[in-house]
Amino acid sequence: DWNPEHIVEELIEQVRAQVGSGKVLLGISGGVDSSTLGLLLARAVGDQLTAVFIDHGLLRLGEREQVEAALKPLGVHLVTVDASEEFLGALQGISDPEQKRKVIGREFIRAFEREARKYGPFDFLAQGTLYPDVIESAGGEGAANIKSHHNVGGLPDDLAFSLVEPFRTLFKDEVREIARLLGLPDAVRTRHPFPGPGLAIRVLGEVTPEKLDILKRVDDIFISGLREFDLYDRCSQALAVLTHIQSVGVMGDERTYSFTAALRAVSTDDFMTAEWARLPHEFLATMSNRIVNQVHEINRVVYDITGKPPATIEWE
Ligand code: XMP
Repeated sequence: DWNPEHIVEELIEQVRAQVGSGKVLLGISGGVDSSTLGLLLARAVGDQLTAVFIDHGLLRLGEREQVEAALKPLGVHLVTVDASEEFLGALQGISDPEQKRKVIGREFIRAFEREARKYGPFDFLAQGTLYPDVIESAGGEGAANIKSHHNVGGLPDDLAFSLVEPFRTLFKDEVREIARLLGLPDAVRTRHPFPGPGLAIRVLGEVTPEKLDILKRVDDIFISGLREFDLYDRCSQALAVLTHIQSVGVMGDERTYSFTAALRAVSTDDFMTAEWARLPHEFLATMSNRIVNQVHEINRVVYDITGKPPATIEWE
């Protein structure tokens, strides 16, 4: 029998045995795995843990505040770093999707290392590696997966910590159960996956502060709407894209020439293949109305009805 209370106690004991009186560094992405790990480690070793949350400016509206509100009251020593100017500066003039990912990965490591030096030295680096990651030795949570980034770039000698990976034997559903026991709010616990590069790969082409601002407002209307109409948990992932298409519209007596936003929602088991979610037409109509009424930079909303393959889930 899989008994979550038992597992939590066991994991806490294991962490204490491994860490002793050492200092532990954890990168928080805002996703379920790293947030749950933060809660577990705070229970296990208290203030020996420093959790670093790097806000790259590519997060959803209110996400940073939501993560802080979820973790700080439960005793996680959380350091939030606003690095948005650095990231946006580094992204200037870059429109190729893979190039954007590279720049963001590089900036992320740079910011993380800086914080590690500021609050360190640390003896351990904690990671929310799950059992499927171990098998595939693939990435866990995108930008929060420091090891996979470091494996590319190489870890500086003075930051060569040992790894603490208490979730190595667990599946995602089990981590969600543990999260519930540890008191992680549902809004974070049941959150869809969110890519490490964040909204940068959902603003097609060059990322500018203006375009990010538009996308954040569109995305917020869509995601809040899914929650409001009880559709959020019926999709595996949902997102909004700001395209670079401008088209003619009409507003009162005026012609407009504004951007097109695309909405996408999918259902999938493994994210390798996916079906587009059959969201109710009435819901889509409500979303479209809200978006064009509240976001004046948008005069056209489309819904993506393509499966994966041949499309990917993200547009970049
Ligand atoms: P695609 O677009 O390849 O996405 O169908 C499959 C899943 O992977 C996520 N994704 C990423 N996650 N860094 C990440 O951490 C990335 O660069 C990245 N690209 C895609 C995507 O959100 C979906 O869940």
